[in-house]
Amino acid sequence: MWGIIATWRMAVEGITEASYILENHGDAGDAIETAIKEVENFPYYKSVGFGGLPNEEMEVELDAAYMDGNTLDIGAVAAIKDFANPISIARRLSKEKVNSMLVGEGAEKFAHKEGFERKNMLSDRAKIHYKNRVKEDCLKSLEELEIKPYTGHDTVGMVCLDESGKMTAGTSTSGLFMKKKGRVGDSPISGSGFYVDSKVGGASATGLGEDLMKGCISYEIVRLMKEGMHPQKACDIAVTNLDKELKERRGKAGDLSLIAMNNKGEWGVATNIEGFSFAVATDKQEPIVYLTKMIDGHCVHEVASQEWLDNYMKTRTAPLVEK
Ligand code: GLY
Repeated sequence: MWGIIATWRMAVEGITEASYILENHGDAGDAIETAIKEVENFPYYKSVGFGGLPNEEMEVELDAAYMDGNTLDIGAVAAIKDFANPISIARRLSKEKVNSMLVGEGAEKFAHKEGFERKNMLSDRAKIHYKNRVKEDCLKSLEELEIKPYTGHDTVGMVCLDESGKMTAGTSTSGLFMKKKGRVGDSPISGSGFYVDSKVGGASATGLGEDLMKGCISYEIVRLMKEGMHPQKACDIAVTNLDKELKERRGKAGDLSLIAMNNKGEWGVATNIEGFSFAVATDKQEPIVYLTKMIDGHCVHEVASQEWLDNYMKTRTAPLVEK
């Protein structure tokens, strides 16, 4: 038995690659790293790796994490610049007993010494997005200037189970477009952006990092699964509760979308937004993209239509002009 679940449609090519590894008795660490690298390397995704949108100083600062559910090893990088595959650096860091989460220049020095590929991660397309945004922002009021997660895709977060029963979790993101230099979201933070324990299962998040962190929501889902809950119920309860708490205490809740898988390969997803997509492959099902909506506190999943899938890629790769 094996399985892999990931946030957003953008992960489907990656989890397809991972499924070849998993069906050939491969390791959950290799599978998840391969899957996330695929997303990081695709230039048309604006929120992960090369092509990710920059901070307010037009620099692409990336966050990523890797967790091994057998040993509970965690490695993470935050606000790292100019490296092609932050997920691989995070995985390498997970082998360190101390200094396993590095930020900024420290993370870059480590990656350089370890021989990871350097790359300017600011694509020409991302530069156009930045310049257009600067022009648009000049015309906006202070309230309208609030920065938000992207619509349709954001952090890639994954949970993977291999045939040996080992589970892993991983995340990678460029964070919020126009964030402050040095801003770090939930993605590299254990318990918030990801958590996995091979004795139970794992979860990973996408959405507004500042709000996801208020509920340590990935850990909360694993905790609920440990109490015996199915991943779907654990996701429904954790997302509904955090959404409610945030609205009660703060008047509004940011985007919260969660994926989870347990160590039996059962999975669940919940969100508080419209149009959240995710992808799953298991030994029992080919890679499939689903769309979700919440109905009465339960997340309902539909297989994405071919028309939706075609339109997705068309929108991502549409020509972009400077305004
Ligand atoms: N969830 C990604 C971020 O807030 O940076």
